[in-house]
Amino acid sequence: MTQRQILVTAALPYANGHIHIGHLVEYIQTDVWVRFQKLRGHKCIYICADDTHGTTIMIRARQEGRSEEELIASMQEAHAADFAGFDIEFDNYGSTNSPENEQLCGEFWAALRKAGLVTERNVTQLYDPEAGTFLADRFVKGTCPKCGAEDQYGDSCDNCGATYSAAELINPKSTFTGATPEVREALHLFIEIEQLHDFLDQWVSEKDHLQPEVANYLKGQFLNEPLRDWDISRPAPYFGFEIPDSPGNYWFVWFDAPIGYMASTRQWCDKHGENFDDWWRNENSEVHHFIGKDIQYFHCLFWPAMLKTAGFNLPTKVHIHGFLTVNNRKMSKRDGTFVMASTYLRHLDPAYMRYYYASKLGPNLDNISLNLEEFVAKVNSDLVGKVVNLASRSAKFVQNENLSATYPDDGGLFQAAADAGDAIAQAYEDCDYNTAMREIMLLADRANKYIEEKEPWTLRKDESRHEELRDICTIALNLFRQIVVYLTPVLPRLAEQTGELLNTPIEHWDESKNPLTGVAVNRFTHLLKRVEMKQVEKMIEESREPEEVSAVSSDADGPEALEKEPLTEEHCTFDEFMKVDMRIARVIEAEEVTDSNKLLRLTLSLGGDERRNVFAGIKGVYQPEDLLGKLVVCCANLAPRKMRFGVSEGMVLAAGPGGKDIFVLRPDEGAVPGQRVH
Ligand code: MSP
Ligand code: ZN
Repeated sequence: MTQRQILVTAALPYANGHIHIGHLVEYIQTDVWVRFQKLRGHKCIYICADDTHGTTIMIRARQEGRSEEELIASMQEAHAADFAGFDIEFDNYGSTNSPENEQLCGEFWAALRKAGLVTERNVTQLYDPEAGTFLADRFVKGTCPKCGAEDQYGDSCDNCGATYSAAELINPKSTFTGATPEVREALHLFIEIEQLHDFLDQWVSEKDHLQPEVANYLKGQFLNEPLRDWDISRPAPYFGFEIPDSPGNYWFVWFDAPIGYMASTRQWCDKHGENFDDWWRNENSEVHHFIGKDIQYFHCLFWPAMLKTAGFNLPTKVHIHGFLTVNNRKMSKRDGTFVMASTYLRHLDPAYMRYYYASKLGPNLDNISLNLEEFVAKVNSDLVGKVVNLASRSAKFVQNENLSATYPDDGGLFQAAADAGDAIAQAYEDCDYNTAMREIMLLADRANKYIEEKEPWTLRKDESRHEELRDICTIALNLFRQIVVYLTPVLPRLAEQTGELLNTPIEHWDESKNPLTGVAVNRFTHLLKRVEMKQVEKMIEESREPEEVSAVSSDADGPEALEKEPLTEEHCTFDEFMKVDMRIARVIEAEEVTDSNKLLRLTLSLGGDERRNVFAGIKGVYQPEDLLGKLVVCCANLAPRKMRFGVSEGMVLAAGPGGKDIFVLRPDEGAVPGQRVH
């Protein structure tokens, strides 16, 4: 096999928050892939860094009364500890606020200028006079100019789906200070990415750079019309790098963030005497990015365009994963499912999470659902019951002795499992870990069956049959070790322990091909404990945002909701109220709208043959299966509205400010579809 040279990155986590179990989907997925490549003998490095720039960091540092540098340094330390706790092993972990990054940004900038891609014009933007800073659209909230829904973000309306600029919002407020923003003009620099349209069309369509659904999304959503200029500068004050030929202006955080992949590579190269261009300007070197589906636009359009212009390697592949849901809901502080990495580590073994995520991850963009009951069941039945059990039921009968000198007849078990290695490797390569784990567990089932048939625990009582016992344990331990080789990318600690047990470290995938013979077996020590639901519950409890509850008291109900959205002063008449025909409805179909970030398509039954097709802006908050079969309340006489995806014939009632905080109204037990709500 020829040795590949592979550079792998995971998205750079923001320095404004701690690592949580949602992030871990990505960093574990990537770590497994890197460990797999290394185990196969390839030259592979795992590169990451903290994403440190931007307004949020600047404001937070001010609020905490310290410098941005202090804030990002302490966050970087916390991130490093969290990653290490989960055995996520970077070859280099840098920071976007590094001299290497500033220098590379300059190189990119010069190339973009030279290619005639930079243009400038004035932009009217909202300005927070209290914070003394311009406000990105998502830092402004107000009333939607199209439908009048309140408390909407400055870029789009969760209620009607309209997109607009923050300056169009009615009654806008800064989310930093609550101040009413002023409209101010400032000079911004743009990249005319449309000039690279043909190149991007071609790159996106080329086989294998992107998962098919990603290519289709980009083609259907962006590349079907001229690409809009990309605003890559922000006026002072801004925490970032000042643009050398445009004093007082800074590169927007998303300009310097991906360049951070390269800056971190450069640090690694400098430490290891490697040549940077061998990794980024070399057609024999691969570049693989792992990211979540929320940031595909940046990585699949802007980033290739920048790399192309500056003459660097284009990504060999961008691997995109879905989002984590816990017990079929989005992570929530109230439910205690917004679990920080550090909280998890106080209660549970990282191996559990690594294995569980691996068993859930596929090559597509489906969301990953963490079901806590299944988590406990899977860890106990697969890892403890199937894998570790192989060793605990055999090693102690031969500890402090040697394995048989020649590998005994096992009826072809070892060879069959060795033959399965290529398919398992392919599944890892394709990021289809779920398939890999399934295949491996099948091998474990067969090995367990062998041990059960041979009953070494019975044989040990008969001294005269010790050689037979040794043969059986030699087979059992080899089948165990073979499985551990296959699991090494996912469970590096188990691999290490197994190496110690059999006095032979696991260093290469091909060690799954040949059995070990004659080696000394060390004393058997415990490899992995069962997990108890109680431990999981404690972790959830610790993650739950404290909630003061007293029997019948509204003391805990704060005024925030009303403050955000004051009660309407004007009365409506009874007739006006009755004009809105609200009905109980049953959700009989529910599906995600593929090309939309926000919409689920629902078919509602109002009883009899009465149906409504409704688009609800709750994708990512509710899973289709959460709603299927459930009763909801719908407005049945809302004028039909034509949307890009079809006609919406009603509306499902929900509470909450929107974004991820949406709560669908559900009638009390006994209500039936078609009943009027009044
Ligand atoms: N700083 C940017 C990335 C810049 S890359 C040049 C960013 N940071 S992030 O901290 O918000 O997210 C880091 C990665 O974690 C992203 O790929 C994101 O998709 C992923 N995830 C964050 N929350 C997640 C879940 N709840 N579930 C799965 N992945 C999640 O975006
Ligand atoms: Zn609206």
